Amino acid sequence: MTTAARKRLYIKTYGCQMNVYDSERMADLLRPLGYAATGDAAEADLVVLNTCHIREKATEKVYSELGQLKRLKLAREKAGKATTIAVAGCVAQAEGAEIMARQPAVDLVVGPQAYHRLPELIARAHRASGERLAADFDAEAKFDALPEARDVSGVTAFLTVQEGCDKFCSFCVVPYTRGAEYSRPADAIIAEAQALAAKGVREVTLLGQNVNAYAGGLAPLVRALAAIEGLDRIRYTTSHPNDMDDALIAAHGEIAALMPYLHLPAQAGSDRVLKAMNRGYTADDYLRRVERIRAARPDIALSGDFIVGFPGESERDFEATLALVRDARYASAFSFKYSRRPGTPGAAMQGQVAESVKDERLQRLQALLAEQQAAFNAACVGRTLPVLFEKPGRHPGQMVGRSPYLQPVHASADPALAGRIVPVEIARAEANSLAGALALEPA
Ligand code: 5AD
Ligand code: SF4
Repeated sequence: MTTAARKRLYIKTYGCQMNVYDSERMADLLRPLGYAATGDAAEADLVVLNTCHIREKATEKVYSELGQLKRLKLAREKAGKATTIAVAGCVAQAEGAEIMARQPAVDLVVGPQAYHRLPELIARAHRASGERLAADFDAEAKFDALPEARDVSGVTAFLTVQEGCDKFCSFCVVPYTRGAEYSRPADAIIAEAQALAAKGVREVTLLGQNVNAYAGGLAPLVRALAAIEGLDRIRYTTSHPNDMDDALIAAHGEIAALMPYLHLPAQAGSDRVLKAMNRGYTADDYLRRVERIRAARPDIALSGDFIVGFPGESERDFEATLALVRDARYASAFSFKYSRRPGTPGAAMQGQVAESVKDERLQRLQALLAEQQAAFNAACVGRTLPVLFEKPGRHPGQMVGRSPYLQPVHASADPALAGRIVPVEIARAEANSLAGALALEPA
């Protein structure tokens, strides 16, 4: 990750005391993105005009100011420096589209109700002009890293198909650190998958921060990969609920190689919190989507991510998360305490939740999720599941592999079975894994 070069912010404030206050808030919000205040518009990388429309001719004043800024922007451009021009405040609210049309030098317009979205709007403006983002995020890649290759055996592999994100959830650094959504061309992915299969890889996990937003649709890509000789299992992670399109849902019922496992983060169960998170769906939307996925593939192992203690989350909001979990029924899930990432809108929100409250909520949520995971695993006992053996287990004579539901499965087996998919009769369920015995001699 990059550390931003120091950037300069020039804010010109018109009008009332409220606007003065708002300008200070905007400066606070932009500081973590690397912007320090300057009194000189000519050295500013970002200019914000915080407008007011009470006074007569205020609008005309703004346009004349913008005319001057346009000349500044051109002069700086000649010197190789980019300038972002933003119009905020009441004039922006009243005639946003018109401002952009009349003065093309304006990069973005933001009304007083949307100041928390400034980081997002600036990132989007930078993307539109092709500028590479360099936000001042710390190097801790706790929440934005894709999984590292767990590729010890050569039996399974990760395959990156998509990077970046255009969703701008208000807690998340990914849109700033990883940039805009980009999908690799399908033929490059297919060629790489063919090469992996030729080396003995039997299972690929398609990776992307927003993998199911894959351009052209993920379902056709999965179908093409499923046709590759030797590639018997396909998984993908991680998915946004709003990008679960009909074709992908149907694919779960149609493509045998597509494993019955889906990581579909809900993040929260309260509509108020989901809205503040900028997730773009309600709890009901999420649950209905899950229902449709289960209609296509009834045994699917549902997984997810949750955040507890997002700013403003009340006990009642948190209980809505527990209710969503009870309704959706997870086979496994990850849960996190909200962690303030400077530069994201969430970090500047009112109502930050006390650490002790987050701890307590996380414990309650994890207890429920553990219960559901145990129930899912217990329901596998007595079934015979196809297991792709990967490597020797912890005990001598034992091999470990994965069930279709991604559970680790241990069984006494010949090491020569690495890379083979073998039926295993499940005898026991542990907290995070299953144990069983080979059901048949493999063919
Ligand atoms: N605080 C807590 N959890 C976060 N995640 C992402 N950003 C944050 C944050 N600021 C979690 C989300 C996401 C997962 C990869 O990490 O649940 O889905
Ligand atoms: Fe971050 Fe995922 Fe939201 Fe994108 S969709 S902003 S990666 S949490």
